[in-house]
Amino acid sequence: WDSLAASCVCLGVMVTILSRSHADRNVYPSAGVLFVHVLEREYFKGEFPPYPKSGDASNDPITFNTNLMGYPDRPGWLRYIQRTPHSDGVLYGSPMAEHVGKPTVIEITAYNRRTFETARHNLVINIMATEEFPLPFQAEFYIKNMNVEEMLASEVLGDFLGAVKNVWQPERLNAINITSALDRGGRVPLPINDLKEGVYVMVGADVPFSSCLREVESPHNQLRCSQEMEPVISCDKKFRAQFHIDWCKISLVDINKVVPVYVTRPEPGTGILPEFGEYDPPSESMKTRDYFSDFLVTLAVPSAVALVLFFVLGYTMCCRREGVSSSLLSSIQLVHHSSIQKSSKELRSMSKNREISWPLSTLPVFNPVSGEVVPPIHPDSYETTSMPLMQTQTNLQNQITIPQQRPSG
Ligand SMILES: *[C@@H]1O[C@H](CO)[C@@H](O)[C@H](O)[C@H]1NC(C)=O
Repeated sequence: WDSLAASCVCLGVMVTILSRSHADRNVYPSAGVLFVHVLEREYFKGEFPPYPKSGDASNDPITFNTNLMGYPDRPGWLRYIQRTPHSDGVLYGSPMAEHVGKPTVIEITAYNRRTFETARHNLVINIMATEEFPLPFQAEFYIKNMNVEEMLASEVLGDFLGAVKNVWQPERLNAINITSALDRGGRVPLPINDLKEGVYVMVGADVPFSSCLREVESPHNQLRCSQEMEPVISCDKKFRAQFHIDWCKISLVDINKVVPVYVTRPEPGTGILPEFGEYDPPSESMKTRDYFSDFLVTLAVPSAVALVLFFVLGYTMCCRREGVSSSLLSSIQLVHHSSIQKSSKELRSMSKNREISWPLSTLPVFNPVSGEVVPPIHPDSYETTSMPLMQTQTNLQNQITIPQQRPSG
């Protein structure tokens, strides 16, 4: 019977859900009642010109941009959400009585993120005044297991309003507002266990709150709430199957009993500032400014320094160079010279040693020109280190003496 009653009352629920709407069109939401408009990907897909290399066109990512015509953003009461480029976008919000009258034109631009095509439509929102607005009893529920766009789906919102109607039994029941918990300082949930952001749903009705809705106000439940335990609410089971309501966060407002809140401000003064002496404005005639000291600092000083450096460097390069490098050169030459002397002495001592054991390779060879056998150079007959190599060779060629075989080794 419960479910039957719920589905029956559901039909009577007045929610302005103008979903599945297409193209340039007029919508007529009521002031003070939640307005929901779905921007369907399916519809806009057909709007894009056919793309030559059409891949999987049915799965193109599509995003929407919505703004008040002639302005960069939407009006303040209208909010927009699209979870992913593969889900529909939703415009939602609660227009107020002051928006009644002039039509609100919303430009909707759809972008195909694969082909970069765009399509544009206008949505004309004509806000209507309602005689029952505002409904005097307003309750705001915090639903933990829903994201705002899930709650905006007409069937889910219908189910929720049906459940509320079931526990409240009003004549009229409206959804007034829906707010993501993220907009109220909630945190983005961890991506585990399919955790949801949570959503606040405000509903209005024409009859006082039912006893069930007031159960949370009992001292027992208040204590449980303060200890962060779930309060015991008898009608929670009507919601439990689909909606997890945080009863501690429910807020019940009777707008006829709302005491106007005055912002406490400090006592206004006389409006006259305390005396603080004569004001002396800067003189109107301007003095010409003297740039000579600036010139000295910025140009003359650096050029003087540069000039000094120039002379110092010039003197060092031209006059000091000889001295420095000649002493360096002479030391190098000295080292060179002594090393030559050392090596020639060494050679000489080695050639003396050669006397004793004459190697086979130095035995007489044939003269390549005359074909004669040339004797080896006598180690003592030439000062090889002081004689040019060429001269040694010519001297050798002049020797026509028959080689004397020396006893070898
Ligand atoms: C609806 O909720 C939003 C966000 O919390 C708020 O700014 C707006 O004033 C609410 N509208 C009504 C009619 O309560």
